[in-house]
Amino acid sequence: MVETFQLTVNGTAQEVTCDRDTPLLYVLRNHLNLKGTRFGCGLGLCGACNVIIDGRTIFSCDTPLWSVVGKNIRTVEGLPADSPLRRMFVEEQAAQCGYCVSGIVMSATALLESTGNPDERAVKEALDRNLCRCGAHNRMVRAVLRAGE
Ligand code: FES
Ligand code: FES
Repeated sequence: MVETFQLTVNGTAQEVTCDRDTPLLYVLRNHLNLKGTRFGCGLGLCGACNVIIDGRTIFSCDTPLWSVVGKNIRTVEGLPADSPLRRMFVEEQAAQCGYCVSGIVMSATALLESTGNPDERAVKEALDRNLCRCGAHNRMVRAVLRAGE
């Protein structure tokens, strides 16, 4: 059923009119023009669509719109341009094609915000559900570790 919903995305109030079961990923990309969040598998298996909701990383492809009303939704577009994490990803050249990176950066952001200075094991666990077909994981782990220092 089509309804109008009020959302908070990256600290800004947004209104969208669509079916209540629409995946958040489609709302972000197609209704709010936030294309940084990527469609990978659409099945909750790859992490390309990760966003942060109330401090926790979730797969936006299998999260229905109705369930995020009243919550604080954060996407890659909301991260500061000069954040240590972004800087370290550039310094470590922690990407190849870049398709998976926004989801990985969101997982890493949630980790750094909750634990501050995680060790290697914690970083690997936090990124465990993010796939990277280019095999850039080692560089990404290094970038997250350096950002936490
Ligand atoms: S697109 Fe959402 S987990 Fe793959
Ligand atoms: S950098 Fe290409 S999929 Fe991760």
